[in-house]
Amino acid sequence: MEDLAAQLDAAVADAAVAVAAAADLDALAVLDTDLLGKKSVVTTVRSHLGGIDPEGRKVVGRRVNEVRTEIEVLVAARRAELAAEARAVVLEAERLDLTEFDRGRRLGHRHVVTQTWERLEDLFVGMGYTVAEGPEIEDEWHNFGALNFPLDHPARDMYDTLYVDHGEPQSTLLRTHTSPVQVRVMETQEPPIYSIMPGRVFRSDTADATHMPVFHQIEGLVVDRGITFGDLAGTLEAFTRAYFGSDFTSRLRPSYFPFTEPSAEFDIQRPDGSWLELAGCGMVHPNVLRAGGLDPEEWSGFAFGFGLDRLALMRHGIDDLRELFRNDHRFLEQF
Ligand code: PHE
Repeated sequence: MEDLAAQLDAAVADAAVAVAAAADLDALAVLDTDLLGKKSVVTTVRSHLGGIDPEGRKVVGRRVNEVRTEIEVLVAARRAELAAEARAVVLEAERLDLTEFDRGRRLGHRHVVTQTWERLEDLFVGMGYTVAEGPEIEDEWHNFGALNFPLDHPARDMYDTLYVDHGEPQSTLLRTHTSPVQVRVMETQEPPIYSIMPGRVFRSDTADATHMPVFHQIEGLVVDRGITFGDLAGTLEAFTRAYFGSDFTSRLRPSYFPFTEPSAEFDIQRPDGSWLELAGCGMVHPNVLRAGGLDPEEWSGFAFGFGLDRLALMRHGIDDLRELFRNDHRFLEQF
């Protein structure tokens, strides 16, 4: 009987050590069976109860139950501990870092591209222009045909066009520039026209520091009587000083677009003397005026198209276009 009692005491002591050493829930489950199952000391001692006198049986029997409970409590406590540890590991792994929002309540602000867009609108509206918009999914006619790109003309290859699977093959596309809106404005408004047309455009370009398959342009169109190339140059120069500051200046270089004649590239000169290409521009081609329902003998005009994202990059000294589209607010909140 003494012997059985000693075995029980030892069983509790051993259990305490073994339970504390159980490294995870699986190990603890195995241990649980060892400590309380059929082959455990507790079960073995109980099976010997029949061989001792009634008084002793009562004492040892009670002790068996106590030991059983003590071991159960030890196992349950360790199980809770290990479950908490396992949960902490999962939580850590799945953690979302929300500390960046933990700075009191703050209002969001407009995206740097939207700010640039609105600033340009304000500036041109201040010069008497209206704002027009056109569809992002265009037909071949407005994006190319009406803009004097003959069918199969290599100039179409200047644009890596994304076609939409709709209607005849290559009849519907994501507009590759905002110039189709020029035609839509001419179709719907009587001159004089002084309009800008901001919007998203699409080309099948691979994203890199200077290219994105989706980007923004702002188109300008003026159609009136007696508009000359001098008006174009003067307008762009006025724009340059208003947008960048009076220490900037601009120049026009000969270029080619099917929808303007003559055509030019518009560069700005920064205070450090360096030049940066910003836009294509030119006098609206007579064929484009005709496509827009206007008589080139009566009306003349100029057009220009800026890369809007590029203006935003320039203004803020950002060197990777992709940053504008990543939507990481830690980056965007700087502007
Ligand atoms: N649409 C031209 C482009 O995307 C830019 C442009 C607009 C050129 C208007 C001339 C006149 O490259």
